[in-house]
Amino acid sequence: MDISSQEKNKKAPEETKKNPYVSNMFKLWIVGVIFVLMFIHLFSITRYGPFPIISDETIVSIVLALVGYLWIQELRDRYRLQTLNKALVEAQERLKREELEIIAALVLTEEAKDPYVRGHSKRVTKCAIAIARKVGFSGAKQMVLERASILHDLGKLDIVDQILRKRGKLTDAEWGIIRKHPQRAVEMLEPLKFLAREREIIYHHHEWYDGKGYPQGLKGEDIPIESRIISVADAFDAMNSDSAYRRALPGDIIISRLKEASGNQLDPLLVDVFLDLIEKDLSLWSKD
Ligand SMILES: [Fe+2]
Repeated sequence: MDISSQEKNKKAPEETKKNPYVSNMFKLWIVGVIFVLMFIHLFSITRYGPFPIISDETIVSIVLALVGYLWIQELRDRYRLQTLNKALVEAQERLKREELEIIAALVLTEEAKDPYVRGHSKRVTKCAIAIARKVGFSGAKQMVLERASILHDLGKLDIVDQILRKRGKLTDAEWGIIRKHPQRAVEMLEPLKFLAREREIIYHHHEWYDGKGYPQGLKGEDIPIESRIISVADAFDAMNSDSAYRRALPGDIIISRLKEASGNQLDPLLVDVFLDLIEKDLSLWSKD
């Protein structure tokens, strides 16, 4: 036997598997057979009167058997399709989660390099979720906010250490680069289409309530509420953490600074909610 005939006889693994579904063509054939049987039966009644070729009982039995067979196959196919669909949705969700975990790990690894920002994204997320729960976010909205919070400074991965970790005063050009990090995060997350809302939230997390923020200078409620929540949590964590220039600020100073920023940098309603939260839940002050 030559090679080409061996190749012909060798079937691909997929081809050798029996297709578990009844094809539409096969179903059409069965419907066709039913019609032909009915036609022969009716024709024989008109031609031969009360003595047809096939008796009524026989034709009814055959038709019922075929219809029953079709119905059972249809139910089985539907059940298999539903099971496959469910498995597909679960696989997609798992894939999304894994992609996110990889990106989040990148952010956390980058933060871990610098003792002054280590754990920043996680703490911002914790505070942001506490605010979201208090203002009545649904579970789905909380999940979006959680993803946006953990990734809010993703764009900083693109900034060189000499600027990002510079201990002295930044030049205007260096500030220009820092201020591009929301836009860079959006570009980096662009391939992940399912993060459309998260990209929007991240893009606006440095807007100010009075319109003096960046990148677009949006004002008040034009800023997505999730971005306003992250702003409050971000400002709090910046003051509650050590930096290269100073130790973490004392609690009473942080509270008075948050009150000062209320209405200009930060959403006043969200600041009120957060002040109430940090008064009652001391774990929000934790630097872990
Ligand atoms: Fe930021």
